[in-house]
Amino acid sequence: MRTLETAESFTPSDVLRRIKPSPSTLAAQRVRELKAEGRTIFDLTVGEPDFDTPEHIKAAAVEAIAAGETKYTPVNGTPALREAIRNHVRATSGVEYSDAEITVGGGGKQVIFLALMATLNDGDEVIIPAPYWVSYPDMVRANGGTAVIMETSASDRYKVTPASLHAAITPRTRWLILNTPGNPSGVVYSRRELAALADVLRQNPHVMVLADEIYSAIVFDGGDTAPSLVSVDPDLKHQTLVVNGVSKAYAMTGWRLGYATGHPGLISAINTLQSQTSSCPSSISQAAAVAALTGPQDFVRETVAVYRDRRDLALARLRDIDGLVPIPPEGAFYIYVDCHGLIGRRTTEGRNLETDQDVTLYLLEDAGVAVIQGSAYGQSPFFRMSFATGAHTISSAMDALAQAVNKLEPARP
Ligand SMILES: Cc1ncc(COP(=O)(O)O)c(C=O)c1O
Repeated sequence: MRTLETAESFTPSDVLRRIKPSPSTLAAQRVRELKAEGRTIFDLTVGEPDFDTPEHIKAAAVEAIAAGETKYTPVNGTPALREAIRNHVRATSGVEYSDAEITVGGGGKQVIFLALMATLNDGDEVIIPAPYWVSYPDMVRANGGTAVIMETSASDRYKVTPASLHAAITPRTRWLILNTPGNPSGVVYSRRELAALADVLRQNPHVMVLADEIYSAIVFDGGDTAPSLVSVDPDLKHQTLVVNGVSKAYAMTGWRLGYATGHPGLISAINTLQSQTSSCPSSISQAAAVAALTGPQDFVRETVAVYRDRRDLALARLRDIDGLVPIPPEGAFYIYVDCHGLIGRRTTEGRNLETDQDVTLYLLEDAGVAVIQGSAYGQSPFFRMSFATGAHTISSAMDALAQAVNKLEPARP
C-alpha cells in the first residue's frame, strides 16, 4: 500500500512528468523578484491587457450577485450566455451555431485542454505551427498526444502554407492548431490564406482544426482579414473548434471565461469532461460575459486604437536598433523580434550571447527590460515583447534596450 508522501518525497504522475510550468509564468516570477529587490524593471512580458474591465461589465457582475445568481449553472453555461455567444458569433463571423454547438469554460485555455482531452489517444499527432503559444505542446503531451512542431519561415511571413500543411499531415494527425491573430507572432491570416488552407483541410477530413481566435477582436489593419476560419469556409464548421473568450477583448483575464463553437459531438464530450472537473464556470463571470458581448463595444474599438499606436511606437524604435528585426504584428499585442543579429556578440564583461535565453537574460540584468525568449515559443533566436503596457513604459524600455544593445561588442569574425 502507498503511504502518504511528504513534500520531499512527492512522486508526480506520468502526466505531470510530461509537462513543465508555463515559461511566461516563470518570467513573471523573475520580474516580481527583481522588483522586490528594488530594481526598476520595464515589464514587457505581460500577456494580458493593462486596461481595467469596463464599468458596465463590472456592474453586471455586481447585479448578478445581488440578484442571487450565485449557484451552479448548466455545464455548458447559462442560456443567456449561450444566446449572447450565438448572436455575437453570428454578427462577427456570419456563422450560425445551435445551442448544442456552443460551450463555455473557465477561460479559452480550459476549453482547449478539455477539447484535447476529449479527442486524443496515445500517439495521436497534433500539428503546432511555430512560433506557438507556450501552452499548446504541453497540453497535447499531457493528454497523450504527440506535438508535431511545424517550422515556419520569414519568407512565408511565419505562417502555415498549404504545401507545409499538406506535408505535415499523416494518417495519425488529429488536429491542426491554427492561432490567428497569433501569439507570439502577431500574424493574422488573410481570407485568401485561410481559404487555401481550408482546401487542404477539406481533403483531409480526419484532421480537426483548433482555431484559437482569442485575439480576433484585436486586429490593426483590416484589409483582407477574415473574422474567423469558418467565415471563410462554412463547410469547415463541424471540422473546426473555434475557441474564443472575453479575456483579451474586454480586459477580463481574471474573470476566467472562454467559449467554443463546433461539432455537437465534440461539444458534448467537452461538457462531459467539464461536468467532472469544474462543473461550470463562475456564474458571476458568466453574467459579466453576457454584458461584455451584448453591451456597447466602444471599449474594444478604443483599446485597439491604443494598441495600434503603441505597436507603431515600439516598431519604429526597434527598427532603429542594429541587430534586431521585429516582425510587424497585424493583431494581438505582442511583437516577435528576430535577434539573430545579437548572437555571438559579447557583453562588456566578456560574456558571449549564444542563445536567445542569453539575450533575454542580458536585457533583463543590464537594461531592466523583461521580455520572453523565443525558445519558449519554439522558434529561436527571437524574443517576444508585449505592448499591453503604457506608451511611457514602452518608450523607456526601448531607450534602455537600445543602450544595452549598442554597448555589446561585435561578434568575433
Ligand atoms: C493564444 C492564446 N490562446 C488562448 C489563451 C487563453 O486565454 P484565456 O484562458 O484567458 O481565455 C491565451 C492567453 O494568453 C493565448 O495567448
